[in-house]
Amino acid sequence: MKSSKDPLLEYACNEAHAMELVLSGARPRRKGLAVIDNPVMHSREEVNMKIWARSLDTVIRLSVVCLMGLSLMENRAAAQEKPLLAEQVFKNVRALRGISVDDFLGTMGIMVAALQSDCADCHIGAGTDNVDWAADTPKKVMARAMVNMVANINKTNFGGRQLVTCWTCHRNRDKPLVTPNMSAIYSAPNLEPDDVITQIPGLPSAESILDKYIQASGGAQRLAALTSYAATGTSVGFGGFGGGGAVEIVAKAPDKRSMIILFKAETGRGDQIRAYDGRTGWLRTPLNVIGEFQLSGGDLDGARVDAQLTFPGQIKQILTNWKSAPPTTITDLPAPSSQSSLQQDLTSGQDHIVDVVQGTGPRGLLVTLYFDRQTSLLLREVRYSNSPIGRIPTQIDFADYRDVNGIKLPFRITYAWVDGRDSIVLDQIRTNVPIDEAKFGKPAPLKKAP
Ligand code: HEC
Ligand code: HEC
Repeated sequence: MKSSKDPLLEYACNEAHAMELVLSGARPRRKGLAVIDNPVMHSREEVNMKIWARSLDTVIRLSVVCLMGLSLMENRAAAQEKPLLAEQVFKNVRALRGISVDDFLGTMGIMVAALQSDCADCHIGAGTDNVDWAADTPKKVMARAMVNMVANINKTNFGGRQLVTCWTCHRNRDKPLVTPNMSAIYSAPNLEPDDVITQIPGLPSAESILDKYIQASGGAQRLAALTSYAATGTSVGFGGFGGGGAVEIVAKAPDKRSMIILFKAETGRGDQIRAYDGRTGWLRTPLNVIGEFQLSGGDLDGARVDAQLTFPGQIKQILTNWKSAPPTTITDLPAPSSQSSLQQDLTSGQDHIVDVVQGTGPRGLLVTLYFDRQTSLLLREVRYSNSPIGRIPTQIDFADYRDVNGIKLPFRITYAWVDGRDSIVLDQIRTNVPIDEAKFGKPAPLKKAP
């Protein structure tokens, strides 16, 4: 069926599409010290809250009209079979070509993080109804030039190794520092370990640290008998935003996992789904740039590792090239000040002495794991996927371990992406229960809010 020529239908489709982008567009970020929360729900969204409630409704209604026209539906069906590249999905991609949509959006996160900026600093109207992602602005043009510059620096000087990235120079500033600053020279150094661990002889081996973890979690035998996991809880977000969603996490050994967050109808937000069925991954964040898409880059590899880590008994087999680093101290990410009044976050700002191991996953995915020296339990996973402008980190913190049928499982899971965070508090975890396979597959079409 060809795309309809009905002008009303065309209008509806365009509107629906535009609205989806709006719902997405609003990925406001931190400015100064204010910290963003969940990638789909940020500070600026507070202002847009009411607009969204209306927008989402509009999207749903218009989408229905649109789908009747079938034109968009065909495109989507095709997109779902074979994940598209960034330049096939977006309109004006000239430097960051040949990469997946998830990796492309990751590069946007890198830019935002490196320059301490906001999507709206480079994209006209990001966070409003009139976002135009494709339009070139002076800063965007500059950023694109810098993408090419960085590639050239690495090619010309470092044999193509990715040693210089946006972060190397910018480090949280729009204009890089030029001159050494006395207070930086003479104050306590900021602990910033290298991404890649080099094994130093004489340290406890990665294997021995992983063995202690297996033991502390309940022992190899009990872990081998763990076949499924079903948890429920709440997304408490950061800073009050992104909070309030009902969370369901389900997993099936060895490598299926989904996290489904449903927001109450009155917030106007649709569900947020991260699904991985052992082979294919899906991300739906209704407020994200493109709504829903199939993962095919670093996020797919990351989803796999996260699924496998849900079943700790197999931990030694899921990565290769294991290394250990000297013990160190990690600190829970601080919560934004706006949060403390809304919710006491027990895990913010605390120090932990940890053992550190690193392994390598598919396509060069680097995974660093931090185990509590006292309990031997996993406190942090940082995984790094690759992009043309540097590694994209994702940090997942685990806390509040409790015994569930003889296995120690974390009841608080905090996610930090380069462009947002979310914190999840579980109230119940059940193990070895039947789980509907459909939950791991492609998310069902958005339901109309009641
Ligand atoms: C420092 C500037 C900068 C920031 C900040 C930035 N972007 Fe971009 N964005 C770019 C550049 C440059 C391109 C074009 C890349 C290319 O040509 O390969 C782009 C392209 C895009 C596109 C593709 C648009 C199209 O249709 O061609 C999307 C979508 C996008 N950015 C989303 C975002 C989001 C979401 C954020 C905030 C998390 C963000 N960007 C932050 C510089 C930026
Ligand atoms: C080798 C150091 C270096 C690297 C690496 C680098 N930049 Fe820059 N960047 C600069 C300098 C220096 C300036 C300031 C230029 C000026 O003031 O004229 C700048 C300015 C910018 C600006 C304009 C900021 C403003 O507010 O006017 C943007 C946007 C930008 N860089 C993006 C990027 C991105 C994105 C990357 C990574 C792909 C990157 N840069 C990597 C050195 C670097």
